[in-house]
Amino acid sequence: MHARSNLPTGTPVVGVLGAGQLARMMAESASALGVQFRVFAQSESDSAALVCADTTVGELTDAAAVFKFAQTVDVITLDHELVPAATLEFLTQSGIKVYPTAAAIKFAADKSAMREKLKMLGAPMPNWVTAQNLNQANQFAQEIGYPLIAKSPTGGYDGRGVWVIADIAELNTLTFPVLLEQKVKFERELAVLIVRSPHNQAVVYPVVETVQQDGICTQVLAPAPNLAESRAIEAQQLALQIAAELDVIGVLAVELFDTGSGPLLVNELAMRPHNSGHWTQDGASTSQFENHLRAVLDLPLGSPTMTAPVTVMGNILGGIHPDLHRGLLHCLARDSELKVHLYGKTVKPNRKVGHLNLTGSDLADLQNRISHAVDFLAGRIDE
Ligand SMILES: Nc1ncnc2c1ncn2[C@@H]1O[C@H](COP(=O)(O)OP(=O)(O)O)[C@@H](O)[C@H]1O
Ligand SMILES: [Mg+2]
Repeated sequence: MHARSNLPTGTPVVGVLGAGQLARMMAESASALGVQFRVFAQSESDSAALVCADTTVGELTDAAAVFKFAQTVDVITLDHELVPAATLEFLTQSGIKVYPTAAAIKFAADKSAMREKLKMLGAPMPNWVTAQNLNQANQFAQEIGYPLIAKSPTGGYDGRGVWVIADIAELNTLTFPVLLEQKVKFERELAVLIVRSPHNQAVVYPVVETVQQDGICTQVLAPAPNLAESRAIEAQQLALQIAAELDVIGVLAVELFDTGSGPLLVNELAMRPHNSGHWTQDGASTSQFENHLRAVLDLPLGSPTMTAPVTVMGNILGGIHPDLHRGLLHCLARDSELKVHLYGKTVKPNRKVGHLNLTGSDLADLQNRISHAVDFLAGRIDE
């Protein structure tokens, strides 16, 4: 199944560790680029494994199995940041190309390491400390005041691993070490996505607004409405600087807090295609998935230009309907412009199981239509 001799001359092979929806959407771009695509999945029912014939099932902690898989590809990239550092380092030491590199990825996988590194770069951030024990946590709380934000340095996603700490009693419940941050009074959350190649070419997408509910992104508005051009340039330059300094290859997403009059503050980094860039599949000349593949293969990058004045992306979060396909009948009939991206995942409450894109020029209209469709698919409304 992995024989290279079956492939036409020159066909590069990309291998992805992890087989979630990001790998699944990379597979679409790989197909269009004529690139062979292989995934290392945890299970045959993983999102990307369902659509990718070249699937190896194994554990990411099994360095020997990952190494065997990596030997069949030209470059390894990642579907998520939870790939064990030891596995990545082993691959790198064995001479296998891994993008983003093990050295870069730790600043996305470990929020404390990220804060430390960004401090050295002088990037604007909320006040923070990595508290090793309750004493240090208490000291920070007295300096900054409650409420605070506590974060598990590693392993969190979609708000899991982030807690609001109201008082000392709650501080007492934390497991150490923990990243503590000032709770920022922001006006909204923004994100900027940059793609960088080994040739040091970089493209930056327009800054977007990410609308969040309970720590989970519900909508992305591209471009961020009413963002001053100087602010957009500030965000894009910050992303360019971070990508270059951290030597990121592939997509880098920088999540930001817009504090209005104050500076844009960096929340966190991701080094893989990111939810804030799903709109690019239908609203930009080149999608983030295609540009990620181009970058890791060191191909020239594609234009990040928008193809419509506005694109709205809505996440489909699992609701009461286990059957998403059935809901499409109503949604597609009601709105023929709707672009559907379902991940083939089993519906669980609040799990991201797909997203929808709409392009146009009337932001409020697009937002309403997106909200209607995601609410219908989740079962919050029935007509
Ligand atoms: N310092 C902070 N101040 C205020 N809100 C925050 C802060 N840090 C995180 N949040 C809120 O929690 C959400 C999730 O935090 P984040 O660090 O991005 O975790 P995740 O890895 O789950 O995305 C953010 O999108 C934001 O809404
Ligand atoms: Mg986040």
